[in-house]
Amino acid sequence: MNTTVATAAPLLAGGVALVLGANGGIGSAIARRLGAAGARVILAARDGERLAALRDELIELGIPASSHPVDVSDADALGAVITAVTADGLDIAVNNVGVSHRPTPLPDLSLSEFDRVIAVTLRGVAVAMMHELRNIRPSGAIVNIASSAGLDGAPGMSAYVAAKHGVIGLTKTAAIDSAARGVRVNAVAPGPIASGTVMAQGADVRERIGGFVPLGRMGTGEEVAEAVLWLASPLASFTTGSVVAVDGGKRA
Ligand SMILES: NC(=O)c1ccc[n+]([C@@H]2O[C@H](COP(=O)([O-])OP(=O)(O)OC[C@H]3O[C@@H](n4cnc5c(N)ncnc54)[C@H](OP(=O)(O)O)[C@@H]3O)[C@@H](O)[C@H]2O)c1
Repeated sequence: MNTTVATAAPLLAGGVALVLGANGGIGSAIARRLGAAGARVILAARDGERLAALRDELIELGIPASSHPVDVSDADALGAVITAVTADGLDIAVNNVGVSHRPTPLPDLSLSEFDRVIAVTLRGVAVAMMHELRNIRPSGAIVNIASSAGLDGAPGMSAYVAAKHGVIGLTKTAAIDSAARGVRVNAVAPGPIASGTVMAQGADVRERIGGFVPLGRMGTGEEVAEAVLWLASPLASFTTGSVVAVDGGKRA
């Protein structure tokens, strides 16, 4: 990847970027943004049809892209896919995969629901990072999509909060372990973003949630993608082990 910032070349020209969890509002926005910045984009998530539609959209825009259906809770399958798609090198990996659960106090949360959330949101990201870190080039960058729930508690959200705190722990530790070979590892902590299940709810719900945000609205996947692009790019060359909040000031 071209690491010279002061050129007219696109920021990520020639780079190879894996987006894990590329379906959905945030993941697809990240894939589009990294592609528009010059990267070849490798898309992965479970739903192969949605992935293929996004791949075709990117190719139509002149962005090289490929799609690879995988369930991250299957560690062997995930390892095989990442190893195969990154055989020719990897510059950027964005781990956006994550699932949540209904707000439920811990004593009432079923063990199977706890395990489901941890298996995807924490273990899935950890397994992905193991393979990405083996294959990523020096000067490569990993960006994990955590959450403001990775920094603070949230009522009834024990499993999700624990998983996202874990993602931030993985991010910081991998950053330290990988620094000597020039690989940077950072996280983005989105606040309320109008995507996924929230988009399926009414505009009134989005307005009510936005009312708790100092900037007065929910964020967009595109706004998360801008932070990802910065962390993934040479513009963030001295930033590793960091958590960038994209939350409209909510945490402040
Ligand atoms: N929306 C928010 O307000 C918000 C706030 C903070 C953090 N986040 C985080 O941002 C990320 C994206 O969220 P989103 O709102 O865009 O939700 P989303 O639309 O549900 O996106 C989740 C992504 O993960 C993939 N995925 C889920 N389970 C998977 C599995 N077992 N194996 C492989 N891929 C899987 C989904 O694709 P498939 O279903 O096709 O597998 C999709 O690409 C998540 O990590 C979420 O925790 C969201």
